[in-house]
Amino acid sequence: MSAKPDRLALVGYGRMGRLLEQLAPSHGFEVALRLDEFNNPDGEGLTAENFAGIDVAVDFSIPEVVADNAVRLAEFRVPLAIGTTGWLDQLERVREAVARHDSALVYGANFSIGVNAFYRVVEAASKALAAQEEYDAFMYEAHHKYKKDAPSGTALRLLDAMRDAGYSRPVDVATQRSGQFPGIHEIGFDSEADTIRVSHSARNRLGFAHGALKAARWIMGNKGVHEFSKIWDRLG
Ligand SMILES: NC(=O)c1ccc[n+]([C@@H]2O[C@H](COP(=O)([O-])OP(=O)(O)OC[C@H]3O[C@@H](n4cnc5c(N)ncnc54)[C@H](OP(=O)(O)O)[C@@H]3O)[C@@H](O)[C@H]2O)c1
Repeated sequence: MSAKPDRLALVGYGRMGRLLEQLAPSHGFEVALRLDEFNNPDGEGLTAENFAGIDVAVDFSIPEVVADNAVRLAEFRVPLAIGTTGWLDQLERVREAVARHDSALVYGANFSIGVNAFYRVVEAASKALAAQEEYDAFMYEAHHKYKKDAPSGTALRLLDAMRDAGYSRPVDVATQRSGQFPGIHEIGFDSEADTIRVSHSARNRLGFAHGALKAARWIMGNKGVHEFSKIWDRLG
């Protein structure tokens, strides 16, 4: 880490953006720009002038704006870490912009190291039960009442992990939005004989925030588009 802090832009200044601001100095960053719904309506804050001298940006905004934000930052060749979920239907457009401008992007539905280890636990269980037809699979996820997307990006990533591991039968997914839960994900397999449950519960947002800042530092030294669950075990 260099002695002089790197200049970080926060795109989205809600619960995650504010926590990142608190933790940024411990990761060698100074927050040099904050964009929110007031100074970035319709992407107005995404100007070359605002981003001059910015080393990296992190997006924790809302699903509706994240792809446009990402395309713009690719044009400025500002490396970007996206934590916002619910925008992956726009991934190809963003991927194309990053490639065209030789820029860099890492995105992840969940930046916590615990959840990324949990993906592997779920993969192993899904692989073990893929050919055991008597087991049905189910998923439950719970988040705070402010969360805008459902099922969560993490739930969708877990479903991909199950499919990739060879589990091709239906998975019944239940979601809950109430209270203050920072994030609970449970996968279960049920048969006439028994039930297997594996779960991850976030205690707070610290794991997401530290992971996001590590992702930001990593993407500063890389090019192209990367999904966080593929690179998390290469972070410092
Ligand atoms: N990857 C991970 O590890 C991880 C962890 C936690 C959360 N998340 C995801 O990250 C996202 C943000 O979570 P959060 O809890 O921080 O949500 P939040 O508190 O609602 O913060 C999002 C902020 O972005 C603002 N915003 C709206 N339009 C904007 C624009 N054009 N430019 C910049 N900012 C804009 C929102 O303003 P308004 O409220 O006025 O619209 C809000 O203040 C969600 O998609 C969530 O699912 C991911």
